[in-house]
Amino acid sequence: MLAGRSILLIIGGGIAAYKALDLIRRIGERGARVTPVLTRAGAEFVTPLSVSALAGRKAYQDLFDLTDEAEMGHIELSRSADLIVVAPATADLMAKMANGIANDLASTLLLATDTPVLIAPAMNVRMWTHAATQRNIATLKGDGIGFVGPNEGDMACGEFGPGRMAEPLEIVAAMEAALAGGPLAGRHVIVTSGPTHEPIDPVRYLANRSSGAQGSAIAAALVALGAEVTFVTGPASAPEPAGARIVRVETARQMLAAVEAALPADAAVFAAAVADWRVKSRSDQKIKKDGATLPRLEFTENPDILATIAARKAGRPALVIGFAAETENVLANATAKRARKGCDWIVANDVSPATGIMGGAENAVTLITAEGAEDWPRMRKSEVAAKLADRIAAALGQEI
Ligand code: CTP
Repeated sequence: MLAGRSILLIIGGGIAAYKALDLIRRIGERGARVTPVLTRAGAEFVTPLSVSALAGRKAYQDLFDLTDEAEMGHIELSRSADLIVVAPATADLMAKMANGIANDLASTLLLATDTPVLIAPAMNVRMWTHAATQRNIATLKGDGIGFVGPNEGDMACGEFGPGRMAEPLEIVAAMEAALAGGPLAGRHVIVTSGPTHEPIDPVRYLANRSSGAQGSAIAAALVALGAEVTFVTGPASAPEPAGARIVRVETARQMLAAVEAALPADAAVFAAAVADWRVKSRSDQKIKKDGATLPRLEFTENPDILATIAARKAGRPALVIGFAAETENVLANATAKRARKGCDWIVANDVSPATGIMGGAENAVTLITAEGAEDWPRMRKSEVAAKLADRIAAALGQEI
């Protein structure tokens, strides 16, 4: 499966770098080409000469190496590979990746790329379990970065625990899986996200506090499992997910049209906070103060996108998932909502201001299915997304 593929291997600075030499051989044996990149610290552990001798090609090191820029720019270098592997991925390199820092060749390649990335972390056990590293891991997983390891065991520093880099053959197996596509390869999933804006006049609109963070994270997690994702988003503040097809809309009616145009799909996740009402007749001109009467807005109901798609006879996605944003009686309201909307699953959450969920980084949800309700502990939105994506993959996997 690796035969004929092109691998960009970034070697970070850790004692596990010596295993990267064996990894290069194992990849080579399977007929793939390795282009090695050494960080400055990586070159302290293994020499560029041994790396390039094993890879049979130049080991790149410096962002400002003008010869390399003439031969192949760093952007091209980052995109010409089928897969980027970071082994060992140090705590420092992971922190740079999670925060978009690009201050040397390796981190710049990782920021500039649109190629799948697989990392093999290696670090001291305390560094691995530190809250900062755990935050970075959640961010990287949410960004769709693949992980292999670390393993548990005796470490070069004399401690015991998780932090040992995966063995070269484990990394090769993870590379093969990454190149073969994830469990959702060949599946199309539609995700709606963000608020909608319902115009009152050319300058004013009705909106809500949704940031789109949960929807973006779900789309990214689905992309990471190999799905083809259509991301239909209202005007959200959260960053759009990489690797998804983005369709930007403003109003509920535009969102429904965009979802219908994106069908057929295997699954649809309706994470958008759609405005329930719109102004019946929006003014073509800015509504002016006339000093005497206050304007009166008359409302009309927006289409319910989730209920419309769930009720389709032809072309209904096999799995239709809604969200229930509630501020009281979460379980009862959400269970009723599942029946009323005709969807398969409801992801219920309490959006009372005191929870800090709307606009925040964390979420505490209850998954309601035909089998019953399941409380998930409070976790980062990226973790909720990864868990939901896994469940979607499992459900669609059973369906075939
Ligand atoms: N939804 C939708 N179209 C709408 C309203 C809601 O697709 N016009 C979807 C949301 O994306 C979410 C689910 O329906 O997946 C529930 O949204 P929520 O705001 O919790 O429920 P409402 O239908 O608005 O009900 P209520 O306001 O009475 O709680």
